[in-house]
Amino acid sequence: MYQNSSKKRVIIVSNRLPVNVSRIEGSIKIKQSVGGLTTGVGALFKSMKNSIWIGWPGISSEKAGAAEADIVSELAKSKYKPVFLKKISIDNFYYGFCNRTIWPLFHYFARYTEYSERQFESFRRVNELFAEAVFSIADKNDVIWIHDYHLMLLPSLIRKKWPEASIGFFLHIPFPAYEIFRLLPQRREILKGILGADLIGFHTYDYVNHFLDSVRRILGLENRLGQLLVENRLIKIDSYPMGIDYDLFNNTAKKPVVKKEAGKIKKRLEGCKIILSIDRLDYTKGIPERLRCYELFMERYPEYREKVILIMIVVPSRVQLKYYQLMKSDIEKYVGKINGKYGTLKWVPIHYLYRSIPFNMLVALYNIADVALVTPLRDGMNLVAKEYIASKTDDTGVLICSETAGVSKEAGESLIVNPNDINDVADAIKNAFVMSEKDKKNAIDVMKRRLKRFDIYRWGSEFMNDLSEIKRYQSHMRAKQMTDLVKTQLIKRYSSSDTALLLLDYDGTLVQLKEKPDQASPDDELMTLLKDLISLKGNTVVVVSGRDRNTLEKWFGALNIQMIAEHGAFIKNDGIWEKDPRLDNSWKKEVLPLLEQYVDRTTGSFIEEKEFSLAWHYRMTDVKLGNIRARELKGALFNLAGNLGISAISGNKVVEIKYNFVNKGNASFRFIEKKRWDFIMAAGDDVTDEDLFSVLPDDSCSIKIGYDATKAVYRIGSYEGFRDFLKEMVESRKLQM
Ligand code: UDP
Ligand code: G6P
Repeated sequence: MYQNSSKKRVIIVSNRLPVNVSRIEGSIKIKQSVGGLTTGVGALFKSMKNSIWIGWPGISSEKAGAAEADIVSELAKSKYKPVFLKKISIDNFYYGFCNRTIWPLFHYFARYTEYSERQFESFRRVNELFAEAVFSIADKNDVIWIHDYHLMLLPSLIRKKWPEASIGFFLHIPFPAYEIFRLLPQRREILKGILGADLIGFHTYDYVNHFLDSVRRILGLENRLGQLLVENRLIKIDSYPMGIDYDLFNNTAKKPVVKKEAGKIKKRLEGCKIILSIDRLDYTKGIPERLRCYELFMERYPEYREKVILIMIVVPSRVQLKYYQLMKSDIEKYVGKINGKYGTLKWVPIHYLYRSIPFNMLVALYNIADVALVTPLRDGMNLVAKEYIASKTDDTGVLICSETAGVSKEAGESLIVNPNDINDVADAIKNAFVMSEKDKKNAIDVMKRRLKRFDIYRWGSEFMNDLSEIKRYQSHMRAKQMTDLVKTQLIKRYSSSDTALLLLDYDGTLVQLKEKPDQASPDDELMTLLKDLISLKGNTVVVVSGRDRNTLEKWFGALNIQMIAEHGAFIKNDGIWEKDPRLDNSWKKEVLPLLEQYVDRTTGSFIEEKEFSLAWHYRMTDVKLGNIRARELKGALFNLAGNLGISAISGNKVVEIKYNFVNKGNASFRFIEKKRWDFIMAAGDDVTDEDLFSVLPDDSCSIKIGYDATKAVYRIGSYEGFRDFLKEMVESRKLQM
């Protein structure tokens, strides 16, 4: 059952409502919509309390005319809130940017993709219209769950007005590889639109990776285990393979009326094995290609003629579009050709229906079909495959399934085919007929159990629970965010203290991170700020850095400042540099050759050799390659490190290798234990600064710069924000003196 721990009202938003309205001779007709989104989410919606579904009712405002108010009140009975679109918007938005640009491109049909600025304009306007509909009926505390490619700008439109809203987005179609997605002129706007959501879901892990890859390459945003920081908001991207209402299909198949229907069809087709093919009319579904495979099967295995029937159901869809019309006539010609060529007086090889079929009939067909031939060229998921399995009551039947459909990732027990390889598919049909009953039963049984466990309700619950979780995490992050009130209190404590210890990391904390370490030298503003801090009575300032001591000495040697270099290998205490006596460089000769190999294999990376540590920098390499190599390097160092007493630590686009006992915490402790300080503050942006935070006395003020997980008590978003805070500290103290 669907369970949502947050108890909030859920507003579902999709282009299409689960029902389609038409007006025939003045009277309103309401029919079920077709397609996986509305059948899947439709079942879930019925189990959600107080929910509302916002969507287009499938009729233009011109056609609805004076009946608009009647339609609104009729749909309200099912908690549907219609968004009416004018004919021109339907042409440019729905038949335009949605189905002439995004649909073909995201399904890898680049040759069918049209690019039109006018249609994108309409796409933007319709997304704005949907945003208005959301604002008019939802409130800030509702959970807004947006579905599919028609509404990819909507998450950020809602976010703009309601910064704190809970917004989920689910894409029901594939998200293509970067090389395809990059072809889209509006690629940045589309990504930014989706990133307005807090949780973004896809059917498969491949689509997640494609999305993250595009975000990284196009927007330069790096993810950490599927989490992204977007304008200081942590969001999550994950895969949630959509399920079906398993019990509905399985129980319906057991109903007497359905059994009777199934019996009748079987009797009519007696002596023949049944292959079933059901799709919306769409070029992505590979229907003509499937016919070609069936033809090859009959040519190659003539013993099956008159013993097999293909029932092909094609459900009308997007009838105004050229490619759909062309395909319909191609399919019909092809069906005619095959039936003419192979048919006999008592046998027709293909039973072709171009229409929607009633639910009981659909389940009856699933139930009796010996083979389901699900061979789309590309498909986000494909629920037909799942419904077929769920409708089996005697556990016989074979699913043949394309590797390019999302469902194939969950149907490992089916016969997986490459839909472009007609030999492969024709042979799979033959194999399905010769498979043992035991093997068939085993395969169906395993898939059935999986579908029952991860059904549509579980899918909805997991998505909603993850959305609540990420919202909780965001508010936890916000709690650490340094507010004006906290700032005022801290500055008050600081300015009234007699002795203050300020432990400050350098890169990313006092200055911005740069591509090359030597580009991040201190600017005039920073030097003035440090001089001001040092000049204030009672202040001890320590720069706690991973930098080598020569660099630190060159920059800050003239100031009366304490320093920690190479994460603690060296300490400058009251003007004298001290080295940890345990340090030596014997380990470097083992590690350097390995690092050099990584430099050779990773363009743009380089080694920084410090006196007692090494750093492998990869800020200038291709982001994806750099991350992979950094992980590999850490793995390769793992064995060496254990024996040599060293460790490899990931910093910001750098892997640092140093002795285990050298860390910012141990080194800083030398200053902390010097005296009883009235006020201690530590600030840092990197994982190595976490060692520093962990040795601080309880009443210290620790500040994380940036948004990664931290032990620090407070958080400031950027080095600029931190400099401002330091300036305020200086001013307040000056006033006290
Ligand atoms: N379906 C339908 N009417 C029919 C035949 C099938 O609504 O006459 C349903 C079918 O039960 C399935 C959906 O259409 O739930 C098709 O979903 P799928 O994910 O396979 O493909 P999509 O159409 O979403 O691309
Ligand atoms: C796919 C899409 C859905 C769409 C359905 C039917 O499943 O992912 O968003 O509703 O096809 O297409 P249509 O254009 O009729 O809404």
